[in-house]
Amino acid sequence: ALTTELGRQLQLREVEGLLLQAATVDNWSEIQNFEAKPDDLLICTYPKSGTTWIQEIVDMIEQNGDVEKCQRAIIQHRHPFIEWARPSQTSAWNICSPCNTCITRTFPPDFKGVEKANIMPSPRILRTHLPTQLLPPSFWENNCKFLYVARNAKDCMVSYYHFQRMNQMLPDPGTWEEYFETFINGKVAWGSWYDHVKGWWEIKDRYQILFLFYEDIKRVSKSPSEEPLSGLCFWEGYPEEFKCSNVMLPSPQDPKHEIQKVMQFMGKNLGETVLHKIVQETSFEKMKENPMTNRSTVPKSILDQSISPFMRKGTVGDWKNHFTVAQNERFDEIYRQKMEGTSINFCMEL
Ligand code: A3P
Repeated sequence: ALTTELGRQLQLREVEGLLLQAATVDNWSEIQNFEAKPDDLLICTYPKSGTTWIQEIVDMIEQNGDVEKCQRAIIQHRHPFIEWARPSQTSAWNICSPCNTCITRTFPPDFKGVEKANIMPSPRILRTHLPTQLLPPSFWENNCKFLYVARNAKDCMVSYYHFQRMNQMLPDPGTWEEYFETFINGKVAWGSWYDHVKGWWEIKDRYQILFLFYEDIKRVSKSPSEEPLSGLCFWEGYPEEFKCSNVMLPSPQDPKHEIQKVMQFMGKNLGETVLHKIVQETSFEKMKENPMTNRSTVPKSILDQSISPFMRKGTVGDWKNHFTVAQNERFDEIYRQKMEGTSINFCMEL
């Protein structure tokens, strides 16, 4: 346990004041020199903001709604993660999960994100968690398309906390109280949520950026009820019959609107049937069961889903089950200070 703990502590290092995985830092110049192409589409997110979700949506659009084609590879391998590099194979923290003693577990060979991207045919779809100031400059120089998904800070913090509990490649988050401080101080991998979101928001009109919100994709849309609603209501204690044709009823999760925006941004025009299929196939329930998206193929020694599943809850407002009243007040005050001057607005519950 000590070796694991020590190893977990050593896995983040700083680049320009921002914590990144050590293997990323070791390969930093190669990552910075990555050559983007004008027809690249880069999916950009702060960790735990719905990266996997938007990747599946984008891939379903790219494959014209063909589910089988989307099953060609696990989601992590479909869109090269440009700053990803495999840590060295013999690190002390690589404790073999079946025997729990062996410390030289060897990983199957894995290409770096930039290597995968370099051999990928164009047009390429890539992904990153990097903030604007650390993105390889060629993305700006080539005026690439960026698809940014932002998630409200409180749910992001909760999701990241559980992710760090189960992810042996990231530092142990400690208690929730400890993690609360770590997160608001930006001492997590890929740095401060506030700076990340602000950075991308502020340049969204200067580049080809489609800026989406997790909460909007998740939003339950209201649609007119097909049948007039009738029933009994009570007026001054007396029952009265009513019939109303203007009732707006919540329909099941309907991220159609946001998916349509992504489609347009990608220059695709798929019909209503395909759109409907994409909505169905990218629902939380479907993706939780799908081995190509739920990370079940990742060894337990890396992602221990018995601690917390990768597809955990997929909701808006889970922060209310974690934040104390005092934490919430403190968070709101800090949020106000850090986000002062930006016009970005988040939905905190649906
Ligand atoms: P929770 O931990 O709150 O459940 P990322 O892919 O960036 O690591 O983000 C992971 C978060 O997105 C997790 O949040 C996960 O459950 C959620 N997520 C993944 N697929 C989703 C989907 N189809 N619908 C809603 N949320 C989804």
